[in-house]
Amino acid sequence: MKLSQSVLGLFTGRRVRGGRALASGRMMGQVIARRFLLTAGMLFAVQGIVALLGAADLVIPDLPSPIPFEFGRSIHLGLATLWPFIGTLGLVYYFLVEELEHDIFSVRLANWQFWLVLLSSLGIYGSLALRIGNGREYLEGMPVFYVGICLSLALGALNFYKTLTSDRNAVTPASGVMVIGVFLLLIMLMPNIIHFSNPVADEGVKFWMVHLWEEMALELTTAGFVASFFKTTGMARPQDVEKWLYLEVTLTVVSALFGTGHHYFWIGYPAYWLVIGFVFSVFQLVPVVFLVHMTYKGLKRRVSTGRREKLALWLILSSLLYHVLGAYLMGFIISVPWVNLYMHGTFLTSGHAHLAVFGALGFLVLGGSYYCLSRGSEPDERSFRMGVLAVLALNLGLLLMAGSLLAGGLLQTYFWRVLGMDFMQVMQLVRPYLVLRMAGGGLFTLGDMLLGWQIFKAWKQTRPGSACAHPAD
Ligand code: HEM
Ligand code: HEM
Repeated sequence: MKLSQSVLGLFTGRRVRGGRALASGRMMGQVIARRFLLTAGMLFAVQGIVALLGAADLVIPDLPSPIPFEFGRSIHLGLATLWPFIGTLGLVYYFLVEELEHDIFSVRLANWQFWLVLLSSLGIYGSLALRIGNGREYLEGMPVFYVGICLSLALGALNFYKTLTSDRNAVTPASGVMVIGVFLLLIMLMPNIIHFSNPVADEGVKFWMVHLWEEMALELTTAGFVASFFKTTGMARPQDVEKWLYLEVTLTVVSALFGTGHHYFWIGYPAYWLVIGFVFSVFQLVPVVFLVHMTYKGLKRRVSTGRREKLALWLILSSLLYHVLGAYLMGFIISVPWVNLYMHGTFLTSGHAHLAVFGALGFLVLGGSYYCLSRGSEPDERSFRMGVLAVLALNLGLLLMAGSLLAGGLLQTYFWRVLGMDFMQVMQLVRPYLVLRMAGGGLFTLGDMLLGWQIFKAWKQTRPGSACAHPAD
């Protein structure tokens, strides 16, 4: 045996390639996926409470709080980026096994990856709660924890790659695309563990994580997951959802890479980025048309589904709505340099960020988490109604939050950037909109708690040995 293989074997443990399904009908890769998905669901539940307190702090300035607003905001942003990421890794584990019909390369690597990403994330939240931060928005935790996340991604990328190449005949477009997405997550995060003394370079690579994680790498895993979901539920024929997948992916990568330019407008980059950023932002709209087409194909056949699939589907359809309107259409409008000049960094950005990060990505990860964790059980009528209520509260809460941020943001832009009024005076004028946003946040948190509970219940009922668990789907 080669030396490199022996070293790899030391870390990866026993190979489980071609492993047989467990009594629950799941393979080991899917058992591990459940840990990632449950963690994502629980972190999401916590985020609702943290965020609501933050929104209250903005309108009630003397609200007693153990953590100052700026650190609370950093924890909120850490949660916003990391739970959809952790959930995505779970979805890749789950649907990779489903697509390839054989188990993952190494269970030990997957376990290492899970614990590394969990401990690093908790480290980020813990250190921020202790008021240790670095001021790099979205990456505010101690640098060592991002090294941990990078390492965990490297382990995941290796594991997924080995799983994919262990039987090349089994590779499907959806499985390939999801794995490329994970590699891109790693590549875009890596420069962020290096310290750049030049602030322009530092801001630039930060957007490789903020922008290229969300608009490129996670869009690839999203496309793979949606295709796989429609295939495994039998709602669409493989050829219908996979026909355009490679084209969609190519367009996503090219347009997102250069579209990053819309973040370079005012951070010290040469002026030609105004043109590049805008032009490629227009192209960014194209791949989302393919995503809509794929969903249309999935819904067209009208295959009758159970309550479990229905609930997951409504979460996925919610995601699609915000994908089109909140992320891509609104993203395009604010990418126009003359518009961005005025609205940059206002509540309009916050409105877009909530519609895109939660609306487009969060809903999708929650839909996938619920679907995968509830495998082997069917919600009763009461749980189903609770689930529907959760989806409604999340949608209405998000719309109220984003609507008030957009209205407040428009006024803020006009008073602050057009009329040149004082910042604090403007904050007083937009206060009613922030109160309305807090009300939306309350409704959202209700949905957040209800869905978090449904996800936890689904996980509990389908644990091996649980009385409610069915042997297989
Ligand atoms: C799922 C997809 C998307 C996600 C998750 C997302 C997320 C975000 C987030 C979190 C921010 C705030 C960044 C910050 O505070 O610095 C942001 C800003 C921005 N996004 Fe998006 N976005 C998405 C899609 C798009 C698209 C497709 C476009 C353009 C076509 C776009 C254009 C912009 C622009 C121009 C800004 C900067 C606003 C400003 O200058 O204040 N976004 N986005
Ligand atoms: C109860 C629900 C929520 C409330 C009340 C809330 C509140 C807030 C507040 C107060 C801020 C600080 C800046 C601002 O005033 O806009 C913020 C920023 C942000 N939140 Fe939330 N949030 C909620 C849920 C979420 C969720 C679920 C996500 C994503 C998973 C998210 C992602 C973000 C992002 C990306 C920013 C930064 C926006 C920017 O760069 O301007 N939020 N949120």
